[in-house]
Amino acid sequence: SKGGYEFYMLKEIDEQPAVMRRLSQDYLDEDGEPTVDPKIVNAISKADHLYIFAAGTSYHAGLVGKALFENFANIPTEVGYASEAGYHFPMMSKHPFFIFLTQSGETADSRVVLQQAIKRHIPSLTMTNVEGSTLSREADYTMLLNAGPEIAVASTKAYTAQIALQAILAKALGEKLNVKAAKDFQLKHELAIAAEGMQQIVDGKEKMEKISKKYLVPSRNAFYIGRGIDHAVALEGALKLKEVSYIQTEGFAAAELKHGTISLIEKGTPVIALINDPVTADLTRGNIEEVASRGASVITIVSKKLANKNDDIVLPNIDYYLSPLLTVVPAQLLAYYASKDKGLDVDKPRNLAKSVTVE
Ligand code: M6R
Repeated sequence: SKGGYEFYMLKEIDEQPAVMRRLSQDYLDEDGEPTVDPKIVNAISKADHLYIFAAGTSYHAGLVGKALFENFANIPTEVGYASEAGYHFPMMSKHPFFIFLTQSGETADSRVVLQQAIKRHIPSLTMTNVEGSTLSREADYTMLLNAGPEIAVASTKAYTAQIALQAILAKALGEKLNVKAAKDFQLKHELAIAAEGMQQIVDGKEKMEKISKKYLVPSRNAFYIGRGIDHAVALEGALKLKEVSYIQTEGFAAAELKHGTISLIEKGTPVIALINDPVTADLTRGNIEEVASRGASVITIVSKKLANKNDDIVLPNIDYYLSPLLTVVPAQLLAYYASKDKGLDVDKPRNLAKSVTVE
């Protein structure tokens, strides 16, 4: 049931702190050591390359996963659209391992790639929210997101669950492979910070409604920009906003705008800038200046340690690699309110279905 909520999307955004706590409980022991099925960890630790396949929001979670697996497990990782890989199969390393990210476990595009994997005897894991789903049954291994049913077409808690679960798997792999970054990674502690931080953000949701009403609702288009891991979240923030509010939105690597798209910036064009990476924060600030001087209405979403007094939305501090768990929440809320305040059916945007079972 909607439990008093007008729309499932907001209910599911609000559930994210609980999902983080549940994943921590289900997959980390009291000392913070991963309890991932050793068969899965063994199988993946033999791989020389990971290939993540997914669609839509799950693909965006995969982009974050790439950073996690490369940093914590030291395994080169490629992320592909399932719809493309099915018919233009990427060149394989000697010992590939496939990871399918799929909330529903039923996405036809992903199923095509899994069939290819089976044919080529490539081992595979499905991370899904639905036990017994097709991709779960057909892959060698399954890890469940345990996020509870996601009803709104726009995916929210499945995205953050996919990121948290990939972080857990990356830590388990890295520990097995003796990677220092994984051993030092205080994941249980960081997931607790994520849960608390998410709670703080959802408790302050009126702020996102105000920003959305002032800048997004009146606009035909919008941009999200960010560097590094924030680029991945920029793509997801843009998908969320356009999917439910019909405001045409693009996500960009912050410096790429000036290579062409900056010509679309007009007076009042909303540009939402994400800043979590200390290495590139100043550069992104420079890109903000570029668009602001051309009239853009800039909205900044910045982690506390990098924030200054003019920033709009300040996020609690968290490990950079888990920052998407916090950054995405204001983006989800901005999308939710833009849709709701335009009087749209937030949970069922036009032309869309919850799971896409055709190619
Ligand atoms: O069930 P899946 O995760 O495989 O679905 C993939 C996409 O269809 C899905 O994430 C879609 O992009 C959402 N509507 C995004 O909010």
